[in-house]
Formats: sequence, C-alpha cells, structure tokens
Amino acid sequence: MQTPPQFTDTFVTIERFILEQERNIPDATGVLSDILYDMALAAKLIASHTTRAGLADILGSTGVENVQGEIVQRLDDFAERTIYRLNDHTRRLAVMASEEMEDIIPIPERFGGGKDGKYVLIYDPLDGSSNIDCNVSVGTIFAIYRRKSPIGDCGTLEDCLQPGRNLAAAGYIIYGSSTMMVYSAGQGVNGFTLDPHVGEFLLSHPNIQVPAKSKYYSVNQGYERQWSPGVQRYTRWLQGENETGKGLSMRYIGSLVADFHRNLLDGGVYYYPADIKNPAKPQGKLRLLCEANPLAFLVEQAGGYASDGRRPILDIQPTSLHQRVPLYIGSRDLVEKAEEFIREMDSVPA
Ligand code: AHG
Ligand code: MN
Ligand code: MN
Repeated sequence: MQTPPQFTDTFVTIERFILEQERNIPDATGVLSDILYDMALAAKLIASHTTRAGLADILGSTGVENVQGEIVQRLDDFAERTIYRLNDHTRRLAVMASEEMEDIIPIPERFGGGKDGKYVLIYDPLDGSSNIDCNVSVGTIFAIYRRKSPIGDCGTLEDCLQPGRNLAAAGYIIYGSSTMMVYSAGQGVNGFTLDPHVGEFLLSHPNIQVPAKSKYYSVNQGYERQWSPGVQRYTRWLQGENETGKGLSMRYIGSLVADFHRNLLDGGVYYYPADIKNPAKPQGKLRLLCEANPLAFLVEQAGGYASDGRRPILDIQPTSLHQRVPLYIGSRDLVEKAEEFIREMDSVPA
C-alpha cells in the first residue's frame, strides 16, 4: 500500500508572511502590511518589464503605442511611474520621494492630499539602470517611515528627512536570474523568490544573517587614485596586506542592489568611498535617503553594519533629499576596519 504524500509546511507566500509578522505587533493596524503588498505588486509589474528589456526598443522603435495604449517607456521611467501609481491613491501615505524626482512627491488632492496617510515612502525605482542594456541584474530599493507631521496636514519635506534609525521597514527587489524581494519590518530580514508561473513571491530565504566568514570585497577600483590614503590602505588590507596574509576575492557588478545582495548571502563588504579628487563627487555617489539608509537598515537587521567611514549611516540626520554619502556596508568587522583606517590615516573633512 502506498503511503500518503507528506506535505511540509514550507509553502509560505509573502502575504501570509507579512500577516504573520503583523500579528506579533499588538497595536498594528495593517497599513504598513498593505504598503509592503503594494511594493510586492510593483515588483511583479517591473519584473515583467525587465525580462522584456531587449524587446522594448524593438517594440517601441516606431513610437507606436503598446497594448496599454502608451508609448513604450524607458525602464527606469516605467519603474518610477509604476511605484507612484500603485501608491498615490491608497490613503496610506503622507508623501513620497524618489531618486528620479527633484522635489518631494505630494499625494494628489483628489486622493486626500496625504492628510490621512500614516507613512512616508522613499524609493530608488531602478537601481543600476546603466546595466539594463547589457542584461545585468538591476533592482528597486524602498524605505518606509512613519510620518512626522500631524495627521490632517499634507506630508512635508521634513517627513522625508528622517534618520534611518526611524525606519519602520525597508527592502529591495532584485531583477536577476530570478526576481527576489528582500525586506525587513524590524523583525529580521527575509527573502522571497517570485515564482513566475503562479505570480507569487514565496519565502525562500528565511531569517537572513550576514555570514560570519567573508568572501568578497566589492568596490569600483577604477577610481582608486581618487581615494583618501586610509581608503587605499584599507583596500590593500582587504587584498591581503594584513596579519593573515590572505585576501578576499573581488566582485563588482555596478548595481548596488546586486552587489549588496550577493554580499549579504555570501559575506563581505561593499564600499563606494568619498572621491577626494573629484569635486563633483566629494561624498561619493550613493544617495543617503533612497540607497544607503534602507540597505543600512537591512544589514543591521541581518547582524551587519553600515557606515559613512566615520559613523553609522543610520545615525545621520539628512539635510536634503538627494544628499550623497560615502558608504561602507556588509559584515560588521570589515566595515569597522574601514572606520579604523579612515580614523587613523585621514584628516576630518572641513
Ligand atoms: P542608479 O542606477 O540608481 O543611478 O544607481 C547606480 C549606482 C549603483 O547602483 C552602483 O553601485 C553605482 O551606481 C555604480 O557606480 P560606478 O559606475 O561609479 O561604479
Ligand atoms: Mn541607485
Ligand atoms: Mn535609480
């Protein structure tokens, strides 16, 4: 006689997971959970376009309208508009901000003007967009804060200029050989892989922890001559000029999300230093609000650390929407080593 099939309890959709986490918070109203679902939906829509990226030009080359009745958009523009459209009318948000938009993005008056929204959404709609044309992984990064301004008012710039310590949730989506959404709402970091056949994100990477042993360092070494002496020395330390004589392997994709994701799973450090000889990039390239803060929140939730070379990223009080910041992120010991070299060898910038 055949034994009945044994079902395991591992089929966890992102909806089920978000809901179960919400139950751990006694006074949760479900609004944050709904914003996370909205981001998962945005991820599916953007993923369905990134997988057709090479076709967009062919389909759009004549300027003809696509099936939705729109001219085919560049992917970063498509991602921007997708996230905005999924979130402008939900009455969950007070205000939004995006890497692609110079000013804060108000909620339209017809959808309440943000007066009833409890949260603030800040996002990089398409990260690593210079990699799209050559079919390399790209991503989306998002950060969710509780509003500062009182309910009943429209959301403000001050709602967006909060230190990362205040984050209620953050996450990213990676459009790679598969699509994954990785997020944290303050109860650890969990990763979900999209099953494209059923259109669901399924829990594939529960409780992600930065590995104790590091494999990689990731940096654009083409800019090495523009770095401070401390950062140059740190790089040689990573390469093996250290007490053990052993170096790490170097991997650099040039899509922050993809570089961060690999190091989160395999162990290592990513850095984008200040560019001391380039007046255009004195603070490096990455943006505090939509790139550094959400990833810093995730890495700390996973037991790692993020710094600007001198202090925790999450403690920086932002002063402007598109503020840039040097970033060292990954395994705690490696990031603290960067701080040590910078403290000992580099003067404090004026
Ligand atoms: P974005 O595409 O959102 O503008 O971000 C690009 C960023 C980041 O993803 C990546 O790590 C970095 O730019 C690469 O910069 P370099 O080419 O200077 O290494
Ligand atoms: Mn980016
Ligand atoms: Mn971007």
